[in-house]
Amino acid sequence: MQSLTIIRPDDWHLHLRDGAVLARTVADTAAQFNRAMIMPNLSPPVVDTAMAIAYKARLDAQNTSLTPLMTLYLTDHTSAQEIQLAFDSGIVKAVKLYPAGATTNSAAGVTNIENIYPAIEKLEELGMPLLVHGEVTHSHVDIFDREKGFIDQQLAPLLQRFPKLKCVFEHITTSEAAQFVTGASDLVAATITPQHLLYNRNDMLVGGIKTHLYCLPVLKRNTHQQALQQAVSTSNTKFFLGTDSAPHAQGAKESACGCAGCYSSPAAIELYAQAFESFDALDKLEAFASLNGPDFYGLARNSETITLTRRSWQVPSSLSFGNELIIPLGAGETLNWKMEA
Ligand code: DOR
Ligand code: ZN
Repeated sequence: MQSLTIIRPDDWHLHLRDGAVLARTVADTAAQFNRAMIMPNLSPPVVDTAMAIAYKARLDAQNTSLTPLMTLYLTDHTSAQEIQLAFDSGIVKAVKLYPAGATTNSAAGVTNIENIYPAIEKLEELGMPLLVHGEVTHSHVDIFDREKGFIDQQLAPLLQRFPKLKCVFEHITTSEAAQFVTGASDLVAATITPQHLLYNRNDMLVGGIKTHLYCLPVLKRNTHQQALQQAVSTSNTKFFLGTDSAPHAQGAKESACGCAGCYSSPAAIELYAQAFESFDALDKLEAFASLNGPDFYGLARNSETITLTRRSWQVPSSLSFGNELIIPLGAGETLNWKMEA
């Protein structure tokens, strides 16, 4: 196959940040995707509808073709009324659960899921999706076991208590998560990032630490990577594209305490194509990238198409990022597919 035309994809999990870097982050995503689910872990976080509307205005001011779908950041204090306001706005499409301390800018997240039962009950009633960062945060739990711990201790009981809750298990990284989502009701789906399909923890740790592959949830062992590859190779519609593209400047990554996140937006669809081709599933790329997400969210599929052509190209080794530089995922690597402009 030399060329692949698919319906224009959407990114169902994206960090754009704020301020001067939006010129780069919004444009990079708009070049490939039509819509994106915008994560709310700004500093300070987007905790109410007024903040979401103001943030959307700053994204729209970039004047690109991107349609941002906004989310709220749940805290211990998010009320059912706040959820109703968000729903009524028509602008906030989902809410995000960050267990406090799980990742970047999650300090204001939820310390005990019982604190937000009223908010979750309201989500269930409205059919509004809950997006979860699925990791427990107890210091005694090994970082490689935190996703499985979250399923057993938090997610399974939560979905039992709220069986009509629409829920996306974000950026899954383990065979246990893929299995859990597969076995759950049709109201439960998952996003998968390019880095968790392309790499495992050996890629990050053997022969020197590759700080630009460090993200959360952290890359797991190869058998988990294979389970994710298997999940997207079936025709299971519960799995869809969410890059979790999470830009941090080069200096913040290449530091004694490097930030978590991979900036995949500039080559996102090409990275996914590279992955899908490597496990012989290119014919499954369109459903994963462009159909399963809108179908799950009850939104129309995009009508435009994009075309990928088989031609070798090199991902840039760095890009401008405000006054700094950023190292994109796959920097300097040769990819086999290029999206035509
Ligand atoms: O690697 C990550 N980076 N994982 C997250 O959950 C958050 C993200 C970020 O915002 O930097
Ligand atoms: Zn994220």
